[in-house]
Amino acid sequence: MIKNIKGTKDLFPNATLNIQDIERHLNIFMNIHGYGEIRTPIFESTELFSRSVGEHTDIVNKEMYTWIDQNGQNLTLRPEMTASVVRAYIQKQLWKTEPISKFYYIGPSFRRERPQKGRLRQFHQFGIEAIGSYNPEQDAEIISMAYNIYKMFGVNNLEIKINSLGSNNIRKKYGNDLKESLMKYKKEFNDSEMTRLEKNPLRILDSKNKNTQKIVHENAPNIFDYISNEDNEHFNAVTNILNQLNIPYTHDQKLVRGLDYYTKTVFELISSDLGAQDALCGGGRYDNLIKELGGDNIPAIGFAAGMERLILAMNLDNNDNINTDIYIINLEKNHIPQAMQLADLLRKELGVAVYIDSLRRSIKSQLRHANKINAKFSIIFDSESLKANKVLIKNMNENKQEAILIDNIISYFESE
Ligand code: HAM
Repeated sequence: MIKNIKGTKDLFPNATLNIQDIERHLNIFMNIHGYGEIRTPIFESTELFSRSVGEHTDIVNKEMYTWIDQNGQNLTLRPEMTASVVRAYIQKQLWKTEPISKFYYIGPSFRRERPQKGRLRQFHQFGIEAIGSYNPEQDAEIISMAYNIYKMFGVNNLEIKINSLGSNNIRKKYGNDLKESLMKYKKEFNDSEMTRLEKNPLRILDSKNKNTQKIVHENAPNIFDYISNEDNEHFNAVTNILNQLNIPYTHDQKLVRGLDYYTKTVFELISSDLGAQDALCGGGRYDNLIKELGGDNIPAIGFAAGMERLILAMNLDNNDNINTDIYIINLEKNHIPQAMQLADLLRKELGVAVYIDSLRRSIKSQLRHANKINAKFSIIFDSESLKANKVLIKNMNENKQEAILIDNIISYFESE
């Protein structure tokens, strides 16, 4: 038997109904905040991710699904969506036609991580990217939107962690000091951690090794102590607005995030209800990325959230079934076309959900099925009534039944 790949999931209709519902709410939420949906391809040039997410990050180093295409091109299934959005923005030179671009997205991303609860190899992200503003109110808008989305979906026990990484030259100095402070412990680090320390010291802070985490926690300097007065002012302006919007947060001076493109504000939203994979969403500023990838000098900030983790945090039951208004029970082979025509007419004229049986089951089992899928009415095509151009309409809740002229069915339901 061929099975799905580890870390991927099949979603059957009772599960997708919940997701469709979440997506509907997200679409409305984004639109009323002035964000429009962008859809970019699922695969891109590998270089896009190594240059943006960063060559020495876990994502690029060991988690990407990458292959050489028949024509020798190096391609990758997107491990995140910010890089693709930025690529599309630059390609269209959007800064020339609009001073600010506000996008949101929903779709699959791929990372070859070790699967566990809340961690998949094909997972789904939704997120936003606001491209064009340096101002702190843009940071506050993004962070408050992230928070309000979870509130909208009834997720509690939320914590926002926020920090500032300053601008790039600060990261260089901080990286050097970090390296110096940790070199004393080099015997304790494995080869990949030593490579990180040598090539991109900040990435040692993402190590999942408990001993390394302890050493880092006890000895690493805080990046926040390195940021300039200007960056500090920006950070204070962001937190001031958050205070006034009543968005609760804690300042975590060790938060650095696992991707290389960040500058200044970074944040994560976690929920204590989630267990080990507690990050619901994460994001931050990336004021240099657009220029680094060949665009103008344009600032940006955004976040992305895991759909599967949102669903875990919402603690949803699977829905029973799709919604059905009318169930058409057909009993004779020669009535099939007429029954199908009526189903179409009802859907078109009344916009109702009509289910029609295709198993040619007995009336008893069709009625049982109609009950199971919560049909409000059944229309029974029985030979006797059809002789008088009528069908039987059964109200499933009240258990009453009447014969109605086929020509009057639409007006019958209009008055129901
Ligand atoms: P990230 O922190 O790598 O950031 O991912 C964002 C969210 O995606 C995580 O908080 C988590 O909920 C979800 N996620 C990540 N990996 C997995 C996985 N293997 N299984 C399930 N869920 C996962 C980014 O991707 C950045 N692009 C965020 C951003 C947007 N920064 C600025 N703009």
